Amino acid sequence: MSETAKYTRNSPYTSRVLTNYRMTGPESEKETIHVELELEEGMTYTPGDAVGILATNREQAVDEVLAVLGFNGTERVLDHYKVEISLHEALTSRLAIGKLARGSINQFAKLCGENVPEGLKALIGQENKAFAEEYVWGREFVDFAKEFPGIVTEPQQLFNILSRLTPRMYSIASSQLAHPNEVHTTVRVVRYNAHGAERQGVASGHMGERAPVGSTLPIFLHENKAFRLPEDSNAPVIMIGPGTGIAPFRAFLEERQAKGEKGDNWLIFGEQRRVSDFLYEKQWEQMQKDGVLTRLDTAFSRDQGKKVYVQDRMAENAAELYAWLERGAYFYVCGDASRMAKDVELALLDAIANGANSTLDHAQEYLAAMKAAKRYQRDVY
Ligand SMILES: Cc1cc2nc3c(=O)[nH]c(=O)nc-3n(C[C@H](O)[C@H](O)[C@H](O)COP(=O)(O)OP(=O)(O)OC[C@H]3O[C@@H](n4cnc5c(N)ncnc54)[C@H](O)[C@@H]3O)c2cc1C
Ligand SMILES: NC(=O)c1ccc[n+]([C@@H]2O[C@H](COP(=O)([O-])OP(=O)(O)OC[C@H]3O[C@@H](n4cnc5c(N)ncnc54)[C@H](OP(=O)(O)O)[C@@H]3O)[C@@H](O)[C@H]2O)c1
Repeated sequence: MSETAKYTRNSPYTSRVLTNYRMTGPESEKETIHVELELEEGMTYTPGDAVGILATNREQAVDEVLAVLGFNGTERVLDHYKVEISLHEALTSRLAIGKLARGSINQFAKLCGENVPEGLKALIGQENKAFAEEYVWGREFVDFAKEFPGIVTEPQQLFNILSRLTPRMYSIASSQLAHPNEVHTTVRVVRYNAHGAERQGVASGHMGERAPVGSTLPIFLHENKAFRLPEDSNAPVIMIGPGTGIAPFRAFLEERQAKGEKGDNWLIFGEQRRVSDFLYEKQWEQMQKDGVLTRLDTAFSRDQGKKVYVQDRMAENAAELYAWLERGAYFYVCGDASRMAKDVELALLDAIANGANSTLDHAQEYLAAMKAAKRYQRDVY
């Protein structure tokens, strides 16, 4: 068994944090960090893969839950594998006490038997789904438990109410040819204020706040065969990676550089402001000088009155983009799935239709053929 297969989400590798720094400037609205983690000899990945992180809940969040429920944390519970652990341990590393799930409300209500409080009744059942969705937005379990006190009487009940704390995936931002025994990530730390409290994402918060150099994190490598550099080292590559979507393209470019591959590389990056959010700027400059990065376009959305996005750069350069596709270019997209990836696809279809002087139907067929040939690949989340 390879070292990679040896470590899984259920049996992770305890990795040491080698580097952890903020990439975005102090004036940025984002806190995007670069984290380097150590790998055991023999653990291998391919650019395009992801790394899974098993984070823990904040100490303060655990203490708040204990206080609201009136437990002290030393109570014994059985975890998901029926192994006895303390309640404190369960709330720290096994249970999702962060964002409240609608399912948790329904499970919680079951504990009330016939005596469901009126306020809770309004949050359960199919007919109240929309209201419950609105209620859970921005709330954590602790907010809810505070509102309906005295219902959880046994610590073990929490395993029925709360979901399991799951690993979070991060696109790998490094090539092992450039960094043996290391895996790098580009992480946006999720922070927001909701219902009068400062909140943070579990895993990104862990890496942003509680993972100093020298500390350890349980991790595993996750293969993604659907996001791969072309086998043909001479094939041109177009990469659309706004925000943290840049991560796998750093891995792609480092890999192509390390292997001395001759194919052209075109990167289109977008973020809010050039001065504070230009992730890996120095490395791209160097790669341009080295002749690895053939072309770099940027879209800093908030540097001017009118927003400019990566798809606007595609539209401005549609003729050249189509020429690259005609030369057999592979087209990759990484980052936001909800809007960006769809808008980029529309811009790609436009570029094809205009370039070929054809209809949108023809562009759809062209894109379908690209997909079938694995020349259109997405890693969106
Ligand atoms: C294949 C893949 C690759 C990925 N690669 C990367 C990557 O390279 N870099 C990266 O940073 N992320 C990446 N992600 C996303 C990452 O896995 C996590 O989802 C992300 O870091 C958030 O996890 P968290 O534990 O910090 O936050 P969670 O604890 O999961 O909290 C996030 C949740 O908080 C809530 N929330 C967020 N903002 C607000 C708000 N303003 N108001 C109210 N509620 C809010 C939302 O419900 C949101 O879903 C990737 C995901 C996948 C699936
Ligand atoms: N699940 C989570 O909680 C979580 C955590 C971290 C990241 N993510 C996701 O990870 C992705 C990357 O996040 P990120 O903060 O690094 O970057 P991002 O939010 O994708 O922002 C990067 C750039 O894209 C721009 N943008 C906004 N809408 C766009 C669109 N429709 N098309 C093209 N560009 C668009 C932004 O501009 P403006 O901001 O000026 O509009 C910004 O300049 C997003 O999907 C984000 O939601 C999710």
